[in-house]
Amino acid sequence: MNKYVIAPSILSADFTRLGEEIAACESADAGWLHIDVMDGHFVPNITMGPFIVEACRRVTRLPLDVHLMIEKPERHLESFANAGASRLNVHVETCPELQNTLQQIKSLGCEAGVALNPDTPMNAIEAFMPHADLILVMSVYPGFSGQEFIPGSIAKVAEIRKKLDALSSSAWVEVDGGVTIDNVRKIKDAGATAFVAATAVFKHPQGAAVGIQTLRDALILSSPTGKELSEWK
Ligand code: DX5
Ligand code: ZN
Repeated sequence: MNKYVIAPSILSADFTRLGEEIAACESADAGWLHIDVMDGHFVPNITMGPFIVEACRRVTRLPLDVHLMIEKPERHLESFANAGASRLNVHVETCPELQNTLQQIKSLGCEAGVALNPDTPMNAIEAFMPHADLILVMSVYPGFSGQEFIPGSIAKVAEIRKKLDALSSSAWVEVDGGVTIDNVRKIKDAGATAFVAATAVFKHPQGAAVGIQTLRDALILSSPTGKELSEWK
């Protein structure tokens, strides 16, 4: 069981060569593939749907970590599950019946994640933590890749980690937005276990595989013991 994962977000991939981009992620031992679904309502951008998830599923065995930035996500869970999603992450801001929604996701055979926006406090999700496989902390306002990491996210990650530890929960803490080689170690030290990166991976001048490797190096090389080496994926 891996303790940490890097999850490249294909939002910044070159979609004319998506298969090759995904193969590069696999070759660099990415942990998961992160797929950003946006509806133009909950967030200002429109991106991809089940069709792209299904295409990814055909070319990779990597778990597909699907981030649903959409209104009324419950209407689409089944389509994404059928398309091959491994985990469905829904935003607390879009789910008035969050516990039911998480249950629905699990009954479809997927892991269930809860995402929260930068302005949403931890207490909005606290009651649902025991039912979540992953907490997704947005460290930018969702909608676009290439934004700057919001520094206050570090304290939020630490707060969530503390609460999960108190519950003896093994849920992942995933950080999404503005993750770079300069801040990834600090994010990990605050208690995150999964790191989403679009720009740092796919816009790396030497390509996605090197982008992933440099992120991993930024963590390992700055580790005082190098102990995490064996825990990485
Ligand atoms: C933002 C998305 C992120 C985004 C991250 O709304 O949820 O996953 O792709 O992009 P970077 O790593 O460039 O901030
Ligand atoms: Zn995302």
